[in-house]
Amino acid sequence: MARFRTLDDLGDLTGKVALVRVDLNLPMQDGSVTDDTRVRAAAPTILELSAKGAKVLLLAHFGRPKGERVSTMSVSMTIDAVQAVLGKEVMFVPEIAGPVVAQSVGILRPGDIALLENTRFWKGEEKNDPELAKAIAANGDIYVNDAFSAAHRAHASTEGLAHLLPAYAGRSMEAELKALDAALGTPVRPVAAVVGGAKVSSKLDVLTHLVTQVDHLIIGGGMANTFLAARGVNVGKSLCEHELAATCEQILDAADKSGCTVHLPYDAVVAKEFAANPASLRTCNVHEVAADEMILDVGPQAVEALADVLKTCRTLVWNGPLGAFEIEPFDAATVALARSAAALSKEGVLTSVAGGGDTVAALNHAGVADDFTYISTAGGAFLEWMEGKELPGVKALELA
Ligand code: 3PG
Repeated sequence: MARFRTLDDLGDLTGKVALVRVDLNLPMQDGSVTDDTRVRAAAPTILELSAKGAKVLLLAHFGRPKGERVSTMSVSMTIDAVQAVLGKEVMFVPEIAGPVVAQSVGILRPGDIALLENTRFWKGEEKNDPELAKAIAANGDIYVNDAFSAAHRAHASTEGLAHLLPAYAGRSMEAELKALDAALGTPVRPVAAVVGGAKVSSKLDVLTHLVTQVDHLIIGGGMANTFLAARGVNVGKSLCEHELAATCEQILDAADKSGCTVHLPYDAVVAKEFAANPASLRTCNVHEVAADEMILDVGPQAVEALADVLKTCRTLVWNGPLGAFEIEPFDAATVALARSAAALSKEGVLTSVAGGGDTVAALNHAGVADDFTYISTAGGAFLEWMEGKELPGVKALELA
């Protein structure tokens, strides 16, 4: 694993200004934050820097305002949630650089915290403009990046700043990097990956990379239908990208060559309509799906076999649900396999790392999120990491 400076490398910071990149791209409804997980993830870093006496300036983006001041995307909308999690007052500063920030720094006492405006209100942010990065850096002494979930973006506040000030990985960034290294960097083998979700097309690079990295690749969700169809199975009305048959074959060939066993479901939960507990619900072998039926979940026998596969593994990386988990009973396979993984993790025989989009919601729904070894707060960044890509925000923190 690459080396990074961490908060352990920092002594007393009394009066120094720490520019801290956090991810406050939080789900909101009617002006209120509905999930403060990312704030809770960043809190230890913010509080540790504050306890060391730093004046802490938080940098974050919210939404995609594309270089314009959009009032509905002010990061100030998250300040109540930030204050509640930190248990401290946080000053809001409607700029990210320049004299207004400098004046605020003058007002702050050691240990105080301020939240700067949405970095994406400035055009230079997404362009990683060195001038903007310089202007932000001018008000700081050190830079701490605690936003792994934004590290796939090479922006001024996620990448540029790391080259201008002494740069450190925050506690949450550090934990993410350690967990990800344990999952795919230098994992204990055998390694299994669960990849679910609707479309193969959105996870082509993930699948292509994983077959060269893991011993068992478990494919679920709508993606499995595309693979089954490529293998000549009639999937009826199921969600399926028939045009990707050749690509699926290539992925299966690559898996074969690198000794990765790909697991596709051999039984399925099917129905004629996509509704909760429909009258047409039945379980069948994947070869028996009727022309007017669709596969909506992995079947119980396959789930049992997959749980047995997990018992032989020491490491698991999980992205995406196995079925249409938002609607009962098509959550059953995801819930059952997640529970098996959680139980093995709790016993200490499996290191399980999950992340990305719907995954956290699915694991929360299964009631097992706390038992996984590590749950990433990242969506897009987790996927890019699963694709084997270098994340610019992480790269910029690496020591030579
Ligand atoms: C996220 O919510 O996944 C991150 O904050 C990145 O947001 P973005 O996709 O708008 O860059």
